[in-house]
Amino acid sequence: MGKFQVMDHPLIQHKLTIIRDKNCGTKVFREVVDEITMLMAYDVARDMPLKDVEIETPIAKTTVKTLAGKKVAIVPILRAGIGMVDGIMKLIPAAKIGHIGMYRDEKTLEPHEYFVKLPADIDQRQIFVVDPMLATGGSAIMAIDALKKRGATNIKFVCLVAAPEGVKALREKHPDVDIYTAALDDHLNENGYIVPGLGDAGDRLFGTK
Ligand code: PRP
Ligand code: URA
Repeated sequence: MGKFQVMDHPLIQHKLTIIRDKNCGTKVFREVVDEITMLMAYDVARDMPLKDVEIETPIAKTTVKTLAGKKVAIVPILRAGIGMVDGIMKLIPAAKIGHIGMYRDEKTLEPHEYFVKLPADIDQRQIFVVDPMLATGGSAIMAIDALKKRGATNIKFVCLVAAPEGVKALREKHPDVDIYTAALDDHLNENGYIVPGLGDAGDRLFGTK
């Protein structure tokens, strides 16, 4: 079974409180989502494999560590996942970016896939799927289905706010996927919104609605 980790570092919790506030405007919301994602990326990348390399410092030859193994792909679930790409890119600037477009039907809450564009060698990459919200889990499950259909095997899902219902569904459907979230909230309301949550992440990031 993959990891499930709530990243409760004080800086992450403090910044999450800023964006949960309904009075937080688009500019600050975007900036703080970026900051939280960067803080999370530091720990999400903790188990990236290292290898030895020989280098020469100004003082001596030495054997030191460098990242090895699988290359990284960041895959945001559109739209809201786009807000989390730069935060990871700041730490892993050579990562390739795939996009999966997914929207949730407001009535049925069923996800619909409308766009998939991935690096050709996605099956060989360590993949970070990013989306601020894990609500019913439908969008994350379908996005990961799309990745696995193309051969991906090494997948981590990174979100900001998760509902217990979404965590359970995602773990049942994709038990191999590690899940990282900044918060595990209480429940989903009758409209499928996370309570207390932060509202509609896409609308708050892009200033729509
Ligand atoms: C939101 C969010 C997730 C999804 C989560 O996207 O960004 O992708 O809902 O809900 P689920 O876990 O119940 O599937 P939305 O469908 O509102 O699209 P948007 O990002 O384009 O606003
Ligand atoms: N999608 C969001 O953007 N917010 C929620 O609370 C649930 C799904």
